[in-house]
Amino acid sequence: IRSELDGQVINSGVERYKQLNAKHWQTVDQGGYGQSCFLIVQTNQSKIKLAAAAKHFLKNGRHPSESEFTITTEPGAVRTTIRVEGKKNTPITMEKIVAVYSSKENANPLQSAENELNKVDGFDNLHRESKKAWSKIWKKIDIRIDGQRLIQKLVRLNLYHLMVTASPHNAKLDAGIPARGLHGEAYRGHIFWDELFILPLYFMHFPETAKSVLMYRYRRLDSARSYAAEHGYKGAMFPWQSGSDGREETQALHLNPLSGKWDDDYSRLQRHVSLAIAYNIYNYYRFTNDLEFLFDYGAEMFFEICRFWASKTAYNPKTRRFDIAGVMGPDEYHEAYPDAKSGGLKNNSYTNIMVLWTFNRAFDILALLPNAVKQKLFKKIDLDAKELKEWRNISNHLQILLSRNTILEQFEGYFNLKEINMQEYAEKYGNISRMDRIFKAEGKNPDAYKIIKQADTLMIFYNLTSNEVYDLLRQTGLSPAEGLLAKNFRYYMKYTSHGSTLSKMVHSNIAMQAGDERLSHDYFMEALKSDYQDVQGGTTKEGIHTGVMAGSVLLILNNYAGLRFKENNMYLDPRLPAGWRGIRFNVRFREQKYNITITSQKVKIINNTPELYTSAVHLRNNAISFNKNKRVEIEL
Ligand code: IFM
Repeated sequence: IRSELDGQVINSGVERYKQLNAKHWQTVDQGGYGQSCFLIVQTNQSKIKLAAAAKHFLKNGRHPSESEFTITTEPGAVRTTIRVEGKKNTPITMEKIVAVYSSKENANPLQSAENELNKVDGFDNLHRESKKAWSKIWKKIDIRIDGQRLIQKLVRLNLYHLMVTASPHNAKLDAGIPARGLHGEAYRGHIFWDELFILPLYFMHFPETAKSVLMYRYRRLDSARSYAAEHGYKGAMFPWQSGSDGREETQALHLNPLSGKWDDDYSRLQRHVSLAIAYNIYNYYRFTNDLEFLFDYGAEMFFEICRFWASKTAYNPKTRRFDIAGVMGPDEYHEAYPDAKSGGLKNNSYTNIMVLWTFNRAFDILALLPNAVKQKLFKKIDLDAKELKEWRNISNHLQILLSRNTILEQFEGYFNLKEINMQEYAEKYGNISRMDRIFKAEGKNPDAYKIIKQADTLMIFYNLTSNEVYDLLRQTGLSPAEGLLAKNFRYYMKYTSHGSTLSKMVHSNIAMQAGDERLSHDYFMEALKSDYQDVQGGTTKEGIHTGVMAGSVLLILNNYAGLRFKENNMYLDPRLPAGWRGIRFNVRFREQKYNITITSQKVKIINNTPELYTSAVHLRNNAISFNKNKRVEIEL
């Protein structure tokens, strides 16, 4: 039997990256003796060491076998050749156990790996421990869907892949959640804004993991400060795509596989990534009531993000409003004005409204800070009342483009762009989800057309409730008409090509809020199946899509249990789709742990928290009273 530790692996999983350097490991050391061997490699650039220690256990029938082990090495590989005498009708079993550590966890990763290996006596005990650890995780995260086998399987498939990307075991690691999991090389392991769709799942079940993901950003706050300063801004500007050192990693050129040409890529102008971080900080606090995090880290990041946005605005004397220019919204087809020489758009509605929301929440956070904490923080980041006053002034006079009090313009000038007949394109090309590539291959500029890649303006209603949006618009002096969400949904839906897996997931949420349950369910199913069916025709093998995996599972709670949170309160408004017999799930909100069962007839809630509860639960806006066993069952 030949067994190997191979340090010569290369990154060759993504076809279009093959021309790039694919070799990322250098060998540091290798060797072995008898049953055991080891290999230490290190990343070329960041010099992170990775040690693997392996041990082979051989059995002849039920007994340890007398075997002969010979070890040979060549740079980057350790080979163990095992000679074992077999007997007819007696199985030979080999177990190979490998422990892997990196220098991020321990300065001497080989020692850690060998220590771990010394505790192991074979596969069975390890397997038992692994099962125990998994069952603890499943007890919390599982969502039971009665009457829908396929959906049940897909939910578990998605949850499983999320858990192998970030689990409670990550709580002490310095790691973010990559957009493509740890499953493939697409996007080179970078993190984007996708945590906005992922973290709610962790807020509910593993707040320590969510906190560690936010701390990953905190440790890179200085990089974000330098990035802002480099571009002439104040505060912290987090990069659109980033890796371990927290600097901007977004490519400036992009290969169009349809035309074979390299095009300019301005996607780094998606400055809204900082707003996603602020949104996650605030929601983490809302779910967990973790004031310590807010006081020590969250508030600092939050204020530095506000500061960046304040410096990004410019007063326009003509309109007497503050503009935000040079940005892109989540719709990546629109990077610049059609004839412009540089990238960026003005007054993207999603960005401006989220900036306004962020400034408002900054004042909420300020009100939570004890005086001593506030003074210390103000001194540390040199913040004062004058700057806060400026934030207030900007908030109340931010430019938000609301046409006829009804449709939010995606960005200034969007309404003047050209229309195309999507039907004709669908007939010609079949799959038109990547209209940007089709346009470019045809020599057209996607910036000149109204076609949208993914939810942009509609993201406002994904992040905020309709009431919140109305309040924000009124705060700037606008008078939004009734039915804002549904009208914007109908307007933007017809231009959206769903070129990102995130898009249908967001649209499912918005369609449900707009009252179109059937369309919402269609989008939900498509989003849930994204990686199972490899809907983008080949991207799943390059890495799963963590945003849609988490977001589609959360749709079950948001759309069908009608789960919402506001201040200290949790709201349920169940609407099970036809054919669903029931759903069962757990939620942890502000120190309370609930187990919820919903059928078409009843809602049953068990509060599993030993202490007195501090939050209230509402069913269709009626506050629920629990009995003395902290249970409640209500007919629907
Ligand atoms: O963050 C997303 C973006 O919104 C669409 N393109 C892919 C990115 C990574 O998932």
